[in-house]
Amino acid sequence: MNQNIDPKTYQSYRGLPPLAGLTTFERAAQPGLSVEQCVARLKRLHYALVRLHEIFTARITSEPIYELKNGYSLHAYLCAEHITAIRTRVSEMREPPLGLEDVPSEQLQIFFDEILAASSTQELLLGLYEKALPAFDRELERYLAETHPLCDAPSVRICRFARLEVADMLSFGQQCLAALVDGETRAKLADWLTLLDACLDEAGPPVQRQRSVKPYVYDPVPKRDERFQDLWNQGVNAEAFLYDESFDPRSKTLMMFFKRLREIDVPEMMASIIIETRGKPWKYYRDMTRQLWDEARHAMMGEVGFVANGIDWTKARITHNWSTRLNTECTALERHAVLFFIEQGLMTRTGKRYEWEIGVASGSPLAGVFQDFDWADEVLHSQIGREWYVTEIGDLKKALDYGDACWSKILSNWAEVRERGWTQHENWWPAIYQQACQSWGITPDARVLAYSTTYEDQRADLKSVSTSA
Ligand SMILES: [Fe+2]
Ligand SMILES: [Fe+2]
Repeated sequence: MNQNIDPKTYQSYRGLPPLAGLTTFERAAQPGLSVEQCVARLKRLHYALVRLHEIFTARITSEPIYELKNGYSLHAYLCAEHITAIRTRVSEMREPPLGLEDVPSEQLQIFFDEILAASSTQELLLGLYEKALPAFDRELERYLAETHPLCDAPSVRICRFARLEVADMLSFGQQCLAALVDGETRAKLADWLTLLDACLDEAGPPVQRQRSVKPYVYDPVPKRDERFQDLWNQGVNAEAFLYDESFDPRSKTLMMFFKRLREIDVPEMMASIIIETRGKPWKYYRDMTRQLWDEARHAMMGEVGFVANGIDWTKARITHNWSTRLNTECTALERHAVLFFIEQGLMTRTGKRYEWEIGVASGSPLAGVFQDFDWADEVLHSQIGREWYVTEIGDLKKALDYGDACWSKILSNWAEVRERGWTQHENWWPAIYQQACQSWGITPDARVLAYSTTYEDQRADLKSVSTSA
């Protein structure tokens, strides 16, 4: 007589983990979802991520709060990586990645349109971190609970990775909500939050748009929180100081921290390119979002550099001149051209390698490490520029000439912003240098302290001012 096998008690050899450790026989004996069902669900997850990527990116520029700009930059990038993973997986399931751009349901479309059009920082935080990401995480959880853990193991893997990072995003968001959204604000938004819940109930009655009655329009004008003052100041020429052989490397690390932190204007600008450039292959958006996130990281390196040296960076002038002018005076392609032109300039002997050498020579291992990674990132950015911008223009020479020409369109506004009373180009350098000397326990060097070269005498086309990137 045969003894029947029971999946509940079936034993693998000598008690070794069954099924490569993926699951149990009891679970694997259940059929789970079909390929068609999996593809349909993955497409829904993909749609949600595409919309989240769009929202995070689109709101970086006009979000005043620096910490949120950085958080959105990271979260846009994480979405981009998970989008890439899902696209690849769908293409493996007897399905060319066709139909990935379809909208799964009108309710879901309205849900994301409403959050994209949120009318304040608080609303956006609630929509993203209290509604959208928790709903997305529930869908991932449901997928993992219902798909076949062995048959669909490749999808299980990417969903598990996604949940890991979604948990980080939610944790960041919950802390932001606790800090910035009080009960009164939440109560005032009750109608809108109810609408978002109704959108997620796709079997429920049709919903009425509130914030997105008029289609969202991207706001290209960078905004900053109150710690960022005197936003047009061009009173301290950081590059002229860095390239002056007679100044010491340790003092120069302060100018490099300044240049890094000032790079917060690059995500502000790159967000506009990503949002305003349509119809590219997905990899373009993934690569550009990676670069955007790198630039936010560079800004935070500068912030860390100041903090680690006991310096209040708000005494410097972290300006938005570059991103504001590019975003409001140039097309998306012109902006990309300028970015590429600047970044190619950083590949020369006097570019990023030079900054790294200063960092090493300064005796500050932190400054050395920051410039080391900053340099590596810029090499990657140069490659991204070649892959997407240069191929669009034709060849490297044409691409550089066009970047040069676009840069020349942005004439120096040094005199204009002063005449308009927007800035007096105040010299903020002594305030930063003195703080550093105090924390280093040294007497300020009189020549370094007296540094007062501004950006006034730069060529009119601003080209020699290697501002950001
Ligand atoms: Fe860069
Ligand atoms: Fe950078």
